[in-house]
Amino acid sequence: MRRPLPRTLRGQLTAGLVGLLAVACLAVGITTALALRGFLMGRLDQQLTASGGRFAASLEHEAKPDSDNHPDTRGQAELTMGARLLDATVTQAAVVDDAADRPLDLTAEDRRALAAVPADDEQGHSIALSSLGAYRVTAVHGDDGDVLVTGLPLHPVEETVHRLEAVEAVVFGAALLATGTAGALWVRMSLRPLRRVTAQAAGVARLPLASGDVAMPDPLPDTDPRTEVGQVGSALNHMLGHVENALTRRQASEERLRHFAADASHELRTPVANIRGHAELALRHDGPLSGEVRHALDRISAESRRMTSLVDDLLLLARLDAGRPLEHRTVDLTLLILDTADDARAAGPTHRWALDLPEEPVTVPGDAHRLQQALGNLLANARTHTPPGTQVTIALSPEPDCVRVSVTDNGPGIPEEIGPEVFGRFVRADHARSRSSGSTGLGLAIVHAVVTAHGGTVDVTSRPGRTVFRLTLPG
Ligand SMILES: Nc1ncnc2c1ncn2[C@@H]1O[C@H](COP(=O)(O)OP(=O)(O)OP(=O)(O)O)[C@@H](O)[C@H]1O
Ligand SMILES: [Mg+2]
Repeated sequence: MRRPLPRTLRGQLTAGLVGLLAVACLAVGITTALALRGFLMGRLDQQLTASGGRFAASLEHEAKPDSDNHPDTRGQAELTMGARLLDATVTQAAVVDDAADRPLDLTAEDRRALAAVPADDEQGHSIALSSLGAYRVTAVHGDDGDVLVTGLPLHPVEETVHRLEAVEAVVFGAALLATGTAGALWVRMSLRPLRRVTAQAAGVARLPLASGDVAMPDPLPDTDPRTEVGQVGSALNHMLGHVENALTRRQASEERLRHFAADASHELRTPVANIRGHAELALRHDGPLSGEVRHALDRISAESRRMTSLVDDLLLLARLDAGRPLEHRTVDLTLLILDTADDARAAGPTHRWALDLPEEPVTVPGDAHRLQQALGNLLANARTHTPPGTQVTIALSPEPDCVRVSVTDNGPGIPEEIGPEVFGRFVRADHARSRSSGSTGLGLAIVHAVVTAHGGTVDVTSRPGRTVFRLTLPG
């Protein structure tokens, strides 16, 4: 499995630092090992050249101990190897062992390797002998038409190089460890301002900017334009400034709009009530009224009634939006449900109404009138948006710290096109039909606003055959 690269900038910088140092260490290690080996080989070659085949020449004389001209073969370093070749055939071969010559047993392979060493070459040659291992050898032409090969073991060179490699491995390892630790700390320190910027940005991202009254965090202190982090910090501060400005303006404009809606609906109440009053007065007029006029007055009266309720709904929403405090009395929810269900039963006799209430009365702190209105809206929906014969069940269940009320019907369900917007204002399905039935799409918006103002929640699940509205009110 491939190990993933570190994702954080800190991890990447530390890994990069250690990686680069590792590459540098490797390059230094390889170069010094090669240089040392080259130097030691050169010295070995010098030694071999200096010995000039004397040891190999001495072998011949040792073979003939009566010779007068006995050259000095002693004084050769331990493990010096000598071989004498006549016509490319090894005639004698020995190695200095404990300051004495020890004849060498050579395999055919060894003999071939010795015969292949070029004579009178300044440069040494590396060969492998079966009994002695790796050797550096040179060959010179002897006085008797022979070739004298002298060799010195290579293993001291290898040993020295390996020791250097071992020392370098330990030193470089320690250096990498120290760099990794110190580098991580250093990178961490250098990135501290960036962490502040990140934390600030993350904090702002978590703010509920859509909900109006938001306290912006203090500006960042890292704004030095000479550093990259400072530039980011300063840009973030600027951006936050703009956001704060925009939020303040939006809040002010929302406030104005709320006031306007509240004022407009308040102002509309009286003229609408007057229109309705006059229409009803005209309808009660004793004199003869043509059918057409009566119909027109009926329409005026009905539409002004609808407008009154619309204006009341708008005013209530505007007041709840403005955070107007509600009444805070003990409300007997059981009684409230019984009353509201009675009204619903009277308004929708073709529906089947069922109650699921606990024995003991259940109470909540709140505004009885508004809660009744919210529940009434839910029951009105269960009646108007479902066909006759639909079963509607109102259930009440007290929980340890809250009270749940649910309204369930087995009607056709909330049309899919409304979706999660069902609690929005003026959201309703099939506009033409809804409008003709007097529906405005404010009913559930009021339920939501009333329940939220009580510190509760409301949600809905709906599919054809089962729609459930659940209210949760703090107990
Ligand atoms: N129990 C239900 N079954 C099916 N559809 C429903 C149900 N309750 C609500 N809806 C759908 O949700 C829409 C929004 O309901 P809401 O009460 O907000 O508005 P409305 O009933 O259309 O108008 P009003 O302001 O008169 O209550 C409705 O138009 C209807 O399509
Ligand atoms: Mg409704």
